[in-house]
Amino acid sequence: MVIGGFKVEDVADRASFEEMIYLLWFDKLPNQTELKEFSVSVAELRELPPATLDLLDSYAGKELNMMDALRAAVGTLGWDAPKEGSDLWVAKRLLATFPTIVAAAWRLFNRKKVINPDPVLSHAANYLYMLEGEAPNAERVRGLETYLNTVIDHGLNASTFAARVIVSTASDFVSAIVGAVGALKGPLHGGAPGPALDMVFEIGEAGKAEAVLRKKLEAGERLMGFGHRVYKVRDPRADVLAKAAEQFYKMAGDMKLYNLALDVEKVALRVLEEHKPGRNLQTNVEFYTALLLHGLGLPTQCFTPTFAIGRVGGWLAHCFEQRKDGRLIRPQSEYVGVSDRQWAEIDRR
Ligand code: ACO
Repeated sequence: MVIGGFKVEDVADRASFEEMIYLLWFDKLPNQTELKEFSVSVAELRELPPATLDLLDSYAGKELNMMDALRAAVGTLGWDAPKEGSDLWVAKRLLATFPTIVAAAWRLFNRKKVINPDPVLSHAANYLYMLEGEAPNAERVRGLETYLNTVIDHGLNASTFAARVIVSTASDFVSAIVGAVGALKGPLHGGAPGPALDMVFEIGEAGKAEAVLRKKLEAGERLMGFGHRVYKVRDPRADVLAKAAEQFYKMAGDMKLYNLALDVEKVALRVLEEHKPGRNLQTNVEFYTALLLHGLGLPTQCFTPTFAIGRVGGWLAHCFEQRKDGRLIRPQSEYVGVSDRQWAEIDRR
């Protein structure tokens, strides 16, 4: 898999997230001055308007899905954009505020005080800081950046396509990103890592994997973290994330969950092949996302929103590209319903 011309495994654990964004938005790697200027110009847009914070506060205690909160909060942004260069400013504003929204929503939902962004910290470090109230160590920042870089873009997946369709109507970037958040929320797309981790916890020990997984399949359930519309081989991003996750569990000195996940993966691949022979249902990016984000100490509620924090960079890169192309996306459809109905007045139906 290639991101901005680089193999994902060559850049994900080396580049900073800001560098990857620059690469996708401006189609080149930044030099030091360019990177600094760009990072500062994004970091200074991190704070949320009071109205956005009030909206998030009004959801606190209502057990809302965090992605609903993110979608609603994103819709409040962009009204203060300068007239000149508005798309770039709005893109930076959206990129800068995604972590602030997610951290604020999580803290408010858990009845904790909101922590203001620290403009001196990097994008990834600041997200962890706003969630936890302490500046994170370098290893955790690296782990999170590797994750964000791995999921930053992936062709015309459902959420990216949604964003491009909206921009193709000559609408604005905020509307496009609201639509993309809605598409990402679904469990068949970005909503899978939480349930994937729940599945590993539910199994609890390797010996129970086969029985639990078979029962799920017999009940017509899907095994979360497996299968992909495009990949019929193992998702290359799964390896990048598995490597990053392994380092974390090793560092923490507790490989139990990681090893259990490896066993669950093996059994899942075997029972899926029996369940749908020849369909090549393989491990996707979400299985190891769950493991890595859990290893990084992120709460499960934040898994899909953290995916959004990475992917918004890719969505916006597509928005710029679509704006340049300027052509309306309007797929043809074939009507296959009844076509020769005769109208009857309501009292005769
Ligand atoms: N568990 C059980 N059965 C599955 C799974 C699964 N994880 N994935 C696919 N199948 C079944 C399908 O129901 C289909 O059966 P059918 O032909 O009898 O209807 C068959 O296997 C083949 O499915 P595909 O055509 O390969 O799958 P499709 O492209 O429709 O769906 C999807 C892809 C939505 C990702 C699916 O594999 C799935 O639901 N996976 C679980 C959710 C998940 O992990 N989502 C994250 C995807 S990665 C991402 O979006 C970032």
